[in-house]
Amino acid sequence: MAEKQLRSVRGMNDLLPPDSETWVFFESKCREQFSAYGYGEIRTPILETTSLFARGIGDDTDIVSKEMYTFPDRKGRSLTMRPEMTASCVRSYIQHALHKKQPVTRWYYIGPMFRYERMQTGRYRQFYQVGVEAFGVAEPSIDAEQIAMIYELYNELGIEEMDVVINSVGGPDDRPAYRDALRAFLEPMRAELCGDCQRRIDTNPLRVLDCKVPTCKAKVADAPSILEHLSEASMNHFEGVQSFLRELGVPFRVDAKLVRGLDYYTGTVFEIIATGDKLGTQSTLVAGGRYDTLVETLGGQPTPATGFALGIERAVMTLPESIAAGVHRPPDAFIATRGEAAKTYAVGLAQRLRRKGLYIELDHRNAGMKSQFKRADKLAARYVIVIGDDELAANEVNLRNMDTREETRLAEAGLVEALA
Ligand code: HAM
Repeated sequence: MAEKQLRSVRGMNDLLPPDSETWVFFESKCREQFSAYGYGEIRTPILETTSLFARGIGDDTDIVSKEMYTFPDRKGRSLTMRPEMTASCVRSYIQHALHKKQPVTRWYYIGPMFRYERMQTGRYRQFYQVGVEAFGVAEPSIDAEQIAMIYELYNELGIEEMDVVINSVGGPDDRPAYRDALRAFLEPMRAELCGDCQRRIDTNPLRVLDCKVPTCKAKVADAPSILEHLSEASMNHFEGVQSFLRELGVPFRVDAKLVRGLDYYTGTVFEIIATGDKLGTQSTLVAGGRYDTLVETLGGQPTPATGFALGIERAVMTLPESIAAGVHRPPDAFIATRGEAAKTYAVGLAQRLRRKGLYIELDHRNAGMKSQFKRADKLAARYVIVIGDDELAANEVNLRNMDTREETRLAEAGLVEALA
């Protein structure tokens, strides 16, 4: 019986060239940008103990309650494939006692995250994030600087159709009053909310504002605004963020309903939303905010912190086509050979040219001249170097410019210059 064909796990995709070239380009742009702001790369394990995320992200969130890839290892310890990296960064920050080593720690990361979500365009079960985290700064200037850092990069890459949306979800001091106000608003409509939200009224009413069920969404449209319940300190901080954003030239709007899907946020939250039509409903490109209590919650010293993450799949989908087209590097030259001796010489020549930094293609399969030229055309090679018995005997090669069709005979010594 024929075996069923093996396939990748649903929601987890292969990334192949030439698409991977666009990813590498995008990632290198992020690296360049973040390092100009003093962020260094951190890599953490994909597996963490489950309690890190349960305590870090919040038991009541969709991520922890429904979406984690959690399993026991061979000794029965519960492990989870990271659904995000902020909690891992905090764990690492505490584990390495970084508060003792430097006043401010700034990291960026690039890597796969795992969430058992319902799949859609722009939503996968293994997806890639680029993110940043800054520890040790409470001032609103860094919230605004992080937003500007990614906004400017997206602008530079030609992603023009986007909105920056910000809000403040208040600090631990503002929350209790707001929670009470929200409960008072939600209680009368309890029976009309989904089962999860009925429970959330008691456990964590802010989560109701983030419910994806359409009837719940409609119900909370008139919920009291968190902004009316901010303490003076929180309000000053939020106003500070806004005035720094103006200073940095980032256009934004305030949305008092923006709460985000993770429990650790305190104060500033933000999202950058794609307003074009490339992403459909999964239009959040970048999301993040301040989490001033998480380090302490996970066992460290009280440390203010703020960060964001972006989905690489969504970013790449939003890039203008000219970027993807421009990323592909055509060969500087394709070497086409006729005969065994020419092939042997060509293998060495290709190597010598590559040592000069050139991209050289070579047909290893001893195909005919015509098919080698076809291949060179397909790859958009700038030049074809033709080597046959004649050329070999004369110690020369024939160089054809594929744009102008002009041909020149020259010795190997002149090749590098001609190709450059
Ligand atoms: P998040 O909103 O869960 O935040 O994810 C951030 C971004 O990752 C989203 O805006 C989206 O672009 C992308 N993303 C999330 N889930 C998926 C998915 N299933 N498929 C494709 N892309 C997805 C966080 O993860 C926080 N750790 C952000 C943060 C960092 N806050 C502070 N520091």
